[in-house]
Amino acid sequence: MFKRVLITAALPYANGTPHLGHMKSTYLPADILARFYKLKGVKTLYVCATDEHGTPIQLAAEEAGEDVEEFVKKYHELGEKIFKSLNIEFDIFYRTHSPENKELTQMFLKSLRENDYIYEKTVELYYCPACQRYLPDRYVKGTCPKCGAEDQYSDYCEKCGTTFEVGEILEPKCAICGSTPILKKSLHFIFKLSAFSNFLEEWLKNNKELQPQVVNYVLKWIEEGLKDWDITREKDYWGFELPYEDAEGKRVYVWFDAPIGYIASTVKWCKDHGDDWEKWWKDSETKIIHHIGKDIIYHHYLFWPAMLKGTNLGFNLPSAIPTRGFLTLEKRKFSKSRQWYISVEDFLKYFPADYARFYLTLASPLSLADTDWSWSEFKEKINNDLVGTIGNFIHRVLTLIYRYFQGKVPEPSEYNEEEKRLINHIKREVERIEKLMETYRLKLALEAIINLAREGNKYLNLKEPWKAIKINEEDAKTTLYVAIQLVKVIAILLIPFIPESAKKILNYLNIEGRYWDYLKKADISPNHLIKKPDPVFRKVSDREIEDVRRLLKLKK
Ligand code: 2FM
Ligand code: ZN
Repeated sequence: MFKRVLITAALPYANGTPHLGHMKSTYLPADILARFYKLKGVKTLYVCATDEHGTPIQLAAEEAGEDVEEFVKKYHELGEKIFKSLNIEFDIFYRTHSPENKELTQMFLKSLRENDYIYEKTVELYYCPACQRYLPDRYVKGTCPKCGAEDQYSDYCEKCGTTFEVGEILEPKCAICGSTPILKKSLHFIFKLSAFSNFLEEWLKNNKELQPQVVNYVLKWIEEGLKDWDITREKDYWGFELPYEDAEGKRVYVWFDAPIGYIASTVKWCKDHGDDWEKWWKDSETKIIHHIGKDIIYHHYLFWPAMLKGTNLGFNLPSAIPTRGFLTLEKRKFSKSRQWYISVEDFLKYFPADYARFYLTLASPLSLADTDWSWSEFKEKINNDLVGTIGNFIHRVLTLIYRYFQGKVPEPSEYNEEEKRLINHIKREVERIEKLMETYRLKLALEAIINLAREGNKYLNLKEPWKAIKINEEDAKTTLYVAIQLVKVIAILLIPFIPESAKKILNYLNIEGRYWDYLKKADISPNHLIKKPDPVFRKVSDREIEDVRRLLKLKK
């Protein structure tokens, strides 16, 4: 068993704002899981930060005519606001350009070098004399020497799939200014990833919580041979300095300090809350769960565990890395430049945050497959499942109790077979849903909750307490007693998924406190008073869908 859960979500770059696609693959599943564990009373931390270094950010700041430090700070604050608006509730949303991260990064670099996992090598680099800067792979374009395709990145031809070393591409051009770069030699520091092949293979094969689909991919990469990794950039790069005397002011590549940012966020939180960060990273009773999108598998399943292991400082390895595919919008890739995307801000002009959380959870299986946001499906899921099934069941039960019993939960008589079956079924489903959540299958868990409400509606239709009240009041009482227990179960189970709405329902139920115990151990007792209910959800109209499409300037 474990005592603590540390949950992370991939750090968003500080040069853009997270949209609904990012929420679905990463931030929302992590948030649901964190809320679930907190509900259960497990010590839980949900940490994140902006990922603030690197060339793309540096260039974006230059283009905006802003100082890079100011620039990343601005995006950090913007991101923070957006996450809050969707009720993504980090315990800390920190920054990689922080003193804590600098110290930890340098500690990693020192340990890894002492342990011989970092070595020096002279490499050749593109340098643009016009821009007066070194150019990373993606900033040099040219013609593929193999197939002749033009306008290819200097490390990879998208046409024929060939990968290149520096200097191989023909007619190289600086992607920023178009002039011809020259080659320069420089002494770089290289992380010996290849030395970890056996260790990583063992870890991947023996860790039962890693997704088999991803593990298979990664094992194939290991089989093909892992390449060592250049973690150095030149002096003019926006990043931390290397802590070596012979480093000549060179900088740390952004992907090296980014995952260390997970630790830095924890350190900062612990400083602020008088806790010991090492318990969260080194104690064997802590579970570490990284949430990522499928584009950063290599970094989290290979680089990161190798870095942790290589320090020899006693770090735990990740327990699980739930990895999900992307979200498409009406079957096309989200693209900000083409205006084909949904910003969180725009969405919230029309619908409550919980509507996005509900639909996105249903669109987010634990799988690498991409899933689609379709407005018609959004409308259907909200109107049928959330409003028609869940909302309707809850509202029926609460209003019937309010109307016939002045809000007082009635006393039940003996249960019939149907009731006994239903009560047993609910109990089993709660156990099953808990297991699903613990194994990151949130979509299935939410579907099971919707199903519970469906069965609640069936039960009401079967028993018709609004008719029974006139001929067999005892029976109506029993029905509504059983039904309100199911309302309670559904409301508590919904807390992690749609926290604002769940709170409203719990408020009508007039129950508070240790919800998880309440869920599994106690009934709402007879004579308990509920509050006057109003419908918690409202339907989505065709008109709204049309408007929102127009607002998003979605072009077909
Ligand atoms: O791919 C990305 O968006 C990166 N900023 C993710 C970093 S995750 C972690 F390792 F810090
Ligand atoms: Zn240039």
